[in-house]
Amino acid sequence: MDGVTVIDHPLVQHKLTIMRKKETSTAGFRRLLREISTLLCYEVTRDLELTMERIETPLKEIDAPVLEGKKLVFASILRAGNGLLEGMLDLVPSARVAHIGVYRDHETLEAIEYYFKAPEDVSNRLIIVVDPMLATGNSSIASIDKLKERGARNIRFLCLLAAPEGIRNFQTAHPDVPIYTASIDSHLNEQGYIVPGLGDAGDRMYGTK
Ligand code: URA
Repeated sequence: MDGVTVIDHPLVQHKLTIMRKKETSTAGFRRLLREISTLLCYEVTRDLELTMERIETPLKEIDAPVLEGKKLVFASILRAGNGLLEGMLDLVPSARVAHIGVYRDHETLEAIEYYFKAPEDVSNRLIIVVDPMLATGNSSIASIDKLKERGARNIRFLCLLAAPEGIRNFQTAHPDVPIYTASIDSHLNEQGYIVPGLGDAGDRMYGTK
């Protein structure tokens, strides 16, 4: 599918299967989410530009590669996005972090924004927006609308599972934003849950209902 990268690394797929199982505990789910997010982060940053820096090893001066440009921004869509954020920060500890609070109205499935906090200068940075579930796409579309209003121009979206309906909505709203996901599932049910999915990612992470 154009604009969508499915991260099919065997470790990602194995961990995702355990996360889908309904008997996986809250602690197990949280640990796996943290582990899988480092692997997803590795893939979503695979093509970042490098520049050479003059350094001295104990033996010799050399030109060695370092990441080019300003620090990345990870933008977490609350609350489930925070589960992906942790592992990504393990891998890129210097990243800046944005938090975007959006919840789904269970009747209309519309995204309602209640919190937004991002670094000042998002226009010259790569922003990686994270949310485990791309379901209807409403929350991620609203979050990216907001980031673009603040000047963000270089955005990627990273999730664990995506529904085809959500991908269509997302790409209609934001055709310039590539999607990275571990799986494209079958469909959304009437309640807006991804099928087969893994249930409510926030509830499974935090042991709520
Ligand atoms: N959000 C979730 O946590 N799970 C779904 O299946 C859909 C949206």
